[in-house]
This record gives sequence, structure tokens and C-alpha cells, in this order.
Amino acid sequence: MKLIIANWKLNPSTLKEAQELASSVPKKSKNKVVLCPPTIFLSQIKYPFLGAQDCFWEEKGPYTGQTSVLQLRSLGVKYCLIGHSENRALGETDKQINAKIRVLIRHKIEPVLCVGFGTKKNDSLSVIKKILLSQIKKAMGGIGKRRLVIAYEPVWAISRGLGTGRPADPAHAAEIAGFIRSKIANAAVLYGGSLDAKNARGFAARKIIAGGLVGGVSLRPAEFLKIVEAFNN
Ligand code: 13P
Repeated sequence: MKLIIANWKLNPSTLKEAQELASSVPKKSKNKVVLCPPTIFLSQIKYPFLGAQDCFWEEKGPYTGQTSVLQLRSLGVKYCLIGHSENRALGETDKQINAKIRVLIRHKIEPVLCVGFGTKKNDSLSVIKKILLSQIKKAMGGIGKRRLVIAYEPVWAISRGLGTGRPADPAHAAEIAGFIRSKIANAAVLYGGSLDAKNARGFAARKIIAGGLVGGVSLRPAEFLKIVEAFNN
């Protein structure tokens, strides 16, 4: 079974639209589909598997504007993205990412560690691997040999909007997934970055890729469904 995660980012703008979007994603699939709406809508969205887009590393206290894993847990949230390049770009550090992963694990919410920030399209494989390994090692400090979902999202492949970017080559994503698995044997490696209805098959065909993390196209249910179906095979 593959894992397909919809990261809605800062969309949509109203609860009504969010509920309509969630209700147009089929609830039954051969694969596991996780919806990550904006935090503020999480309690109002009905879907079998919900994820948060981020969380705070402290459980409670004087932290204005943050979201606690205890709060996520009380809503039945099962997954949480951590280390997304859009958050790293805003200043999130490896230390904070590690602290968030630890608190998530403590409260039995599955972290989805995003790596790939800081890589460039024309970097050599060895440079890319070095960057990724550093991000993974720092994120996993102190968590032992636990299974971990890791999303390889080369930052240059992420679309700026509705899935119109340039994805990585599936062969490249598979090579990186193999590399990550060679270092972290029980990692499940997803690919993210401009996945769409057309290119998803190429990634799905690589058995080492355990699923997809979808941004822009996850806001278009008919196309998103095609990505989910591509990973069915
Ligand atoms: P796009 O699918 O819009 O490129 O976004 C990928 C992503 O950042 C998912 O977390």
C-alpha cells in the first residue's frame, strides 16, 4: 500500500471550500490517502486520515500562535509534515525539526520528514546526498531505529502554485529513495514536487518510491484522484 499525502498549504480561503474539497476526495482507496488542510480547518474536515502541515515542539505553555501535538491528537490527526522547505525557508532549524519529530513520536502522531531544501537542480548526486543525509541525521537524532516516513522534495521541483513546476526525473527520485533506504533501512520514501495526473505514473512505477506528497494538484480533486490511482498499480 502506498501513501499519498495532500498538502493544501495555505488553501483554500474558506471553511466551506475546504469541506467541499475534502468531500470530493474518495474515502476508499487501495492506497492510504491523507489530507493535510490548514490547521484552522482540521477540526471541521471529515476524512479517514488527516494530517497537520506543522506543529510546535512544546506540548503546552506560553507560545502564542502555535499548535500543540496534544491538540492535534485530540482531533484524531494521524500524520504531521515536518521540515517542509517552505518552513525551512522561513527559518525553521534542524534542531527545531528534531524536537518536533520527538514530540510527535511521543504522542503517536506519524511525522513525515520533508528533506530536499537547499538542493539545486544541477547539483551532483554526491552533493545532493550529502545535504539530504545531513538533514535526515539531524532530524532523527535521539529517535533510534524507528520506521520513518521521509518525503524527498527537491526544493527546485516544487511548484509555486497549481502544479505547474518541473518535477524531478523519476529515475533520480528512485536513486535518492534507494540511497535513503541504504542509510535508514526502514524508511518509507515519498516523492514530492510538481506531481500531476500525467507524471505520477513514472514515479509510481518505481517500487522503491513509497508514495507521493502532492501540493498544487491536491486542490484539484479529479486530477488528484488520478495521482492516487497511478500509485494503485
Ligand atoms: P507541488 O506539488 O505544488 O509542487 O508541491 C509539493 C509540495 O511542496 C508538497 O508538500
